[in-house]
Amino acid sequence: MVLKMEKDEKFVELLWRDKHMKTDPSRKDSPYDSNLRFTAVEIIGNSPTNEDGVITPSEENWKNRLIWGDNKQIMSSLLKQGWAGKIDLIYIDPPFFTGADFSFTTRLYSDGQKSKNSIIGQKAYSDSWDGGISSYLMYMHDRLKLMKDLLRHNGSIYIHLDWRVVHYVKIMCDEIFGYDNFVNEIIWKKTNSPKSQSNGFGSQHDTLLVYSKSGNFRFKAPYREFDHNSLKPYCYDDGDGNGPYRLIEIEAQGVQRTPNRKQFEFRGRTAPYLYNINTLKEWDSLGLIYKTANGRYCRKQYLKEMKGIPVSDIWVDKQVSPIQSAEKVGYDTQKPEGLLRRIIETSTNEGDVVADFFSGSGTTLSVAEKLGRKWIGSDLSIHAINTVKKRLLGIHDSRNLNAKKYGKQVRPFEILKTESCETEFWKEKPAEYISFMTKLYNSRQLTGYNYIQASRENRAIFFGPVNAPVSMDMIKNFVSECVYWKFSGGDILGWTWDQETRESAKQFAQQKGVDLRLIQIPDVNAIKSALAGSDSCSNLMGIPDQIVEKSLGRVVKFRELPYVQISSILDGREITLKLEDFQFPLTGEESQLLGNIDDSRQLIDYWSVDWDYNGRIFHNQWQSCRTKKELKLELTAKHTYEDRSEHTIMVNVVDVTGNEINRMIRTAV
Ligand SMILES: C[S@@+](CC[C@H](N)C(=O)[O-])C[C@H]1O[C@@H](n2cnc3c(N)ncnc32)[C@H](O)[C@@H]1O
Repeated sequence: MVLKMEKDEKFVELLWRDKHMKTDPSRKDSPYDSNLRFTAVEIIGNSPTNEDGVITPSEENWKNRLIWGDNKQIMSSLLKQGWAGKIDLIYIDPPFFTGADFSFTTRLYSDGQKSKNSIIGQKAYSDSWDGGISSYLMYMHDRLKLMKDLLRHNGSIYIHLDWRVVHYVKIMCDEIFGYDNFVNEIIWKKTNSPKSQSNGFGSQHDTLLVYSKSGNFRFKAPYREFDHNSLKPYCYDDGDGNGPYRLIEIEAQGVQRTPNRKQFEFRGRTAPYLYNINTLKEWDSLGLIYKTANGRYCRKQYLKEMKGIPVSDIWVDKQVSPIQSAEKVGYDTQKPEGLLRRIIETSTNEGDVVADFFSGSGTTLSVAEKLGRKWIGSDLSIHAINTVKKRLLGIHDSRNLNAKKYGKQVRPFEILKTESCETEFWKEKPAEYISFMTKLYNSRQLTGYNYIQASRENRAIFFGPVNAPVSMDMIKNFVSECVYWKFSGGDILGWTWDQETRESAKQFAQQKGVDLRLIQIPDVNAIKSALAGSDSCSNLMGIPDQIVEKSLGRVVKFRELPYVQISSILDGREITLKLEDFQFPLTGEESQLLGNIDDSRQLIDYWSVDWDYNGRIFHNQWQSCRTKKELKLELTAKHTYEDRSEHTIMVNVVDVTGNEINRMIRTAV
């Protein structure tokens, strides 16, 4: 690491490998300058939505938004869609360069018992950096620059880090936001019981760097509650009903007592006063001046006038205390709501826009919701997106910031995902698509066949068309080719599947004597999320082959399609749906872990229903999800239609590993 001092003596710059590497804007696959459209995947509440994939800050009905994808692409696209200078506060809690993987855990219901085996842990995101600190700094640099452009002229950004990289990022931020726009370095006590270290001191704090976009930024000084020690100075009481007070100096003391400070006379004493004579006289007339035993004057400050103790840059008080278990939602690295409350209340007004582009479990979004702020959140991990969704849907049941139940339902919000530049690229370059998938699936590419594209452990493999359903014709042709070339097993990997196709495919293969597996290709965001903690997560095409094969291929999970059976009974205008069965093939490790689950439907984490699916966007109108308090899932859903006509119902089921499956049901009421 080098600090470069140029001719300008004020110029200091942090350099790292590739910092000044130029990104070639003509590269088709370069997401550096992304302007991707957003696809709404789910609406919660009755918020209308733009179907053109563009979201603008000036739209009439504001919608809170949770976006699934890489935040570099998301922020770059937001800037292109008119969001420059539109966000009042950004809080980020990015990976800290810890070199570790972080998980989220779900507790499962098993015959009413919370048994030992019923906790499942999943990797939520990774914070390991193959390219070392240079790649981490590059990743942060790109993103912080975009955040600066998104901030409003009087906005602020809080960057939450720890000892590992905060000092590097401070220098980087001085360059991005301007040294003069640095506001504070906040020391936050994150734990009451630091781990003891044999070499050095245990770490007990995180650091938050605060920058403003300009010198004129929103700041409402926060106060903390009085504690025993801070009440001690309020030991005076005149018994006049005004209550206890303390004495504050009105004469310059110590370093303030410079030789050229002007002295003047007040009530017979000449001294270097800190206030002008008119102010002193006014206080005197109000009975606020106190004469000490040695003849000095002080001002009385009554406890009843004080809002609390002004908060300094060391945050150790109870309002921002380390996360309590009652608040935990099972996501590693979750921060306490009290911390976000202080930040949001200090730096925004009601109605302002708050963003967290590394949302995790959604602490910022939950607090922004409770404080009546508008919000935008994003995360690359589907587990984070599902956790935030569940947390917001259950917000009425969570504690309010004053420790009582919040009691209000979440305002309408939308879940979106970014279009993927990779899939567009692969559609145009099928050979590159097959080559990438072959490596990702740890298989061997084959040539000379019509449908068989690769093989793995003697099974033939076919990769379905990018972002399109695998058709029955493709399945038949592949199976016939397997028979001809004497492959007894075959895997078809697909992006999307029609309900009917997947039901008849297995039957067809069975008749032909082929052991067929239908496998879901994970969403591009899910593939990238295995790389979160690497600056290459923005661009799959830029990853070297050996990383795809060795690192990525090992962590990206390909699963057989789950099976869900839902029955529907119509009684007049009332329809009842019942989740009859749910099966998904578990890995060996998972089946051991989940061995004592007696009803596989309890492997569902969440299911929701759109009673009038419009064929495009899922409108979440009913849901049942596993929560910390209620581990058991409701298995029936009821709805009464107002009119007698045909309706299309869409059911969305998400299992505990984060995979989802949809079922469409048509009904004539
Ligand atoms: C430390 S956690 C945030 C925790 C959060 N403050 C909370 O209270 O739950 C960091 C999050 O950043 C996400 N992340 C990492 N790289 C990302 C990227 N490039 N785009 C979007 N999210 C990313 C991870 O998936 C993870 O959920």
